[in-house]
Formats: sequence, structure tokens, C-alpha cells
Amino acid sequence: MAALNGAGLQPYLPPTRTRNADRSYMRGTLSGMQVFAKIWDPLRIEREHNFLAALDHPGIVRCHGWQQLSDGRAALILQQCAGTAVENWDRPLTDAQLRLIELKLTSTVEYLYDQGCFHADLNESNVLITAELEPLLIDFEFAVRFTVRADFMHSADYSGEFGADFASLQPEPGMHEFPGGRPYPYGVQYVLGKLRAASAAAGTAQC
Ligand SMILES: Nc1ncnc2c1ncn2[C@@H]1O[C@H](COP(=O)(O)OP(=O)(O)OP(=O)(O)O)[C@@H](O)[C@H]1O
Ligand SMILES: [Mg+2]
Repeated sequence: MAALNGAGLQPYLPPTRTRNADRSYMRGTLSGMQVFAKIWDPLRIEREHNFLAALDHPGIVRCHGWQQLSDGRAALILQQCAGTAVENWDRPLTDAQLRLIELKLTSTVEYLYDQGCFHADLNESNVLITAELEPLLIDFEFAVRFTVRADFMHSADYSGEFGADFASLQPEPGMHEFPGGRPYPYGVQYVLGKLRAASAAAGTAQC
């Protein structure tokens, strides 16, 4: 892959962003691919890269590699996803569309558990929704590996930023559960709650 320095990528500021000024982002073409670069501390970038490099799922952002930059920082080179983060979602969705997104996101998280990975930061900025309404999981900054799989992990997989919202998260009757009745991941519920609210605020969806 070509070097990012001097490659002509454009700086990118995610919409409505006011946090985390210690990192920056770029978008553009590199080695003929549309890429998104997350630029940050090399140790954190290498860690996130190593996590993503071991994963292969259509619901998880693809990682092309990482590079050390001349200013001492490093760039994580990702597939550029033409999606909108749930925190920036502004279109109405039907119940059926929301349900499909729910099932896809849940199955992505289930894939992660099958790989022994815990995302640990499932929130509205880390799930992108494409124009085809495919949910894409990004940001493996806090991801961890586990060796013993236990039911409580599913309910625990959430972002530490939930705050007061966390107390209100309980599986609803009839809500999707993993095969065998294992608990529904709270992080997925949390993200879907945000998406439902954004959809309702945007108006009524056409079926
Ligand atoms: N591969 C990608 N393609 C397109 N946009 C992306 C991609 N990765 C990240 N983004 C955009 O950049 C934002 C920040 O990305 P990411 O969550 O990986 O970084 P972060 O520094 O951990 O931010 P935060 O702390 O807000 O979660 C996302 O919410 C999204 O808007
Ligand atoms: Mg993030």
C-alpha cells in the first residue's frame, strides 16, 4: 500500500463532533481504494489494527493496515464506508427496516463473540448505517478478547458512556434473543434505541 504521507487525502471532521481533539481523520484514495484514516497514538492504532485484522465479517469495517507517520503519530487505514453514524441519523425508518437493522447488528455482535471478542464500546458513534440500511460496526479502540464465554458478557457489552441510560436498558418481551435464549446485548439495544429516536424525530417513514 502507498504511504499516507503526501498521498493527498483530505482532512475529515465527522459531523457534529466536539470531542476527542487528540486524534484526527482523513479520507481519500490510496492505492486505488477509497480509504478512511484514523490518526492517533501509534500504540493505540496498532492495537486497533491487530484486532480488526483478525476479523472478517460484512458488518465490520475492513482494515487495510496501519502506517507510522512522519509527525510521530500513526494512521489506521480503513475501508471508507459510505454510511452515517447513528448519532447523525436524520431519516425516518419503518418498523420493518428497524427490525432488519436490529437483526443484522445482533448477528454481527454474535460473530464477534464467536471469535472471542468483546467490542466494549457499542454506542451511537460506532455504528454506521449505509444507504442500503446495512449496519457497520467500527471503532475497536476498547475491544478485548475473552476465552471463557458467559451469558453475562452479552448483557455487559456496552459503552461506558451510557450513564443514566444504562439503568433503563432491559430486554423487552418479544425482543430478539440469541439462539438458546441468551440475553440480548445491551449495547445493541442502546444503539437501536438511539436510532428509533432519530427516526421518530425525522418524521413518518413511507412503507
Ligand atoms: N471507515 C469509516 N468510514 C467512514 N466514516 C468513518 C469510518 N470510521 C470512522 N468514521 C467516522 O468517524 C467517526 C469516528 O470514528 P471512530 O469511532 O473510529 O473514532 P473515535 O476517535 O474512536 O471517535 P469516538 O470517540 O467518537 O468514538 C465515526 O463516528 C464516523 O463518523
Ligand atoms: Mg468511535
